[in-house]
Amino acid sequence: MIPRETIEEIRNKSDIVGVVSEYVALKKSGRSYVGLCPFHSEKGPSFTVSQEKQLFHCFGCGEGGNVFDFLMKIENISFVEAVAELGGRIGIRVEKSGIPGSLKNEKDKLYEVMLMAAKFFRKCLEDETGKIARDYLSSRGISPDTSKSFGLGFAPAAWDELFKHLISRGVSPAHIEQAGLTLPRENKDGYYDRFRNRLMFPIIEPRGRVIAFSGRALENVEPKYMNSPETPVYHKGETIFGLNLTKDAIKNEKSVVLVEGNVDLLSVYQAGVKNAAAPLGTALTISQCKLLARFTDTILLAYDSDTAGETAAERSAELLRSQNYKVKIIELSGAKDPDDFIRHNEAGAFKNAIDKSLPFLEFMIRRALSRHNLKEIEGRSLALRAAAEILSREKDDFIRKEYAKTVSVRLGVGPETVLAEIKRLGYYSRAGGKDLRRITEKPPSKVAEAEKKLIALSVQDNKALETVKKELKPDSFFNPDARAVIELLFSADTEQTDNLPHFMVENLTSGSAKNFLTRALLDESPEKSGQILEDCIQVIKAESVRNRIDVLKSELRKAEEQKEPQRAAELLVAIKNEIS
Ligand code: GTP
Ligand code: MN
Repeated sequence: MIPRETIEEIRNKSDIVGVVSEYVALKKSGRSYVGLCPFHSEKGPSFTVSQEKQLFHCFGCGEGGNVFDFLMKIENISFVEAVAELGGRIGIRVEKSGIPGSLKNEKDKLYEVMLMAAKFFRKCLEDETGKIARDYLSSRGISPDTSKSFGLGFAPAAWDELFKHLISRGVSPAHIEQAGLTLPRENKDGYYDRFRNRLMFPIIEPRGRVIAFSGRALENVEPKYMNSPETPVYHKGETIFGLNLTKDAIKNEKSVVLVEGNVDLLSVYQAGVKNAAAPLGTALTISQCKLLARFTDTILLAYDSDTAGETAAERSAELLRSQNYKVKIIELSGAKDPDDFIRHNEAGAFKNAIDKSLPFLEFMIRRALSRHNLKEIEGRSLALRAAAEILSREKDDFIRKEYAKTVSVRLGVGPETVLAEIKRLGYYSRAGGKDLRRITEKPPSKVAEAEKKLIALSVQDNKALETVKKELKPDSFFNPDARAVIELLFSADTEQTDNLPHFMVENLTSGSAKNFLTRALLDESPEKSGQILEDCIQVIKAESVRNRIDVLKSELRKAEEQKEPQRAAELLVAIKNEIS
């Protein structure tokens, strides 16, 4: 734990505009600075930095926070590392408890060891010992050029070639082990190499540092792939293989083709599709999504066509869609994976498959319909149910309705039949009645505006905060992020906090709530007055009443359906009370 005062001192002495400028070209605009967002690709500048408030927010992708958040996101580092890094720049030393020397130096040492290892493996692939691996590569159709681009290498079969090599270069056994390259011998002193007789894929982060290895067996031995363990510089769930080489193409093409396997990536790249990458393992994680967001918001999934691959694709697609990515599916008819597809088709076939990729919903619907016999009424009924089930999870009204139309055409029924089935499955009451707010549709944007303004006012003005505390409850806020901000704000000890905005940014646990807050704070609205505060409070109160009435009405309907006259009468009275 770093002491609070140290964190505050470092934050106060750092300048967010200076730090951001190292990564983003900023221009002065009004009271803030703006530039192209480094976290998503855009043409016009929505990325805003306020010197006065020492906060940033991108009005395009929604990312926001203070100087630590910026460094954590852009460098993919932890909070402690961000604090230490900034501390270092202004001469405040932050030590990770227990370990002498700064964390940065420790990690630098590991990067250095990993690079030495990568060079060693590369040399082994190129000299006599590597013939077996070179033969393997050529048997799989991987050219020397591709092998070189990816920095492939060979780990010799002997027990301690790498270990001896690194020791001779002055690296300590402890560092070699910490880098995940060796394992301690059982019952004996000393170490042996983790990777032996394997084709080595260096895993390189976007900025170009080697952080891990993935080693493929050359013969039929288990495990087929051996990967580096988690180390201070390698976190599997946050890493995507290939981005160092493909990130520019991904930005230019405005999309990324995700494949499952390391070899798939090599094949796809070699076939001329340079905007590709491979998450290590199967299902995508949130951190990996965020990493991709730096380069594009359109993801084309080319996963294996076996059941495991389909499941992984579906799960990854759902996750990506929940994070507002556009997802398309590349179909590999007849092949088991992209590598197999490319080997068994003429040149250019994979690019054609990309052009023919289907939006995720279209893909899911086609698959659902194909499972039933549409010539029979019973088959069409099951197909209708399956398609409606898929569409009931779609939040966007327009998209849901348009797809319902296409389904209705394919089933030869009217669109209202499909829409009725979707409604019957209850897209709006999925929460099982627990989250009653979901019963009403999206809040009118007036309410969203009011919640945002109100929060900006109360975080920056104690008097406004007192008024809001008296007039509203966290429950009155519609947006869950607004509610999270208000809950923390109401519980904050404002006497003890001299910088409430920064206290809030640092203590909000939810990332999306933090983004909501920075958006509210950096939204330049010129007017600031008691009247605005009053208006906002009224809008939110009115919305709360409307919500309560909607909930009561739906309960009333239920009571009537279930023939409970007593309860229905009570509910009617309650509704009248709310209206008056
Ligand atoms: P080949 O074509 O057989 O060389 O493999 P592939 O590149 O097609 O990979 P596959 O589809 O079999 O697996 C996809 C990815 O999952 C691999 O690239 C690895 O990252 C990972 N993986 C596969 N097998 C193993 C394993 O045995 N252990 C671990 N840790 N990871 C594996
Ligand atoms: Mn394969």
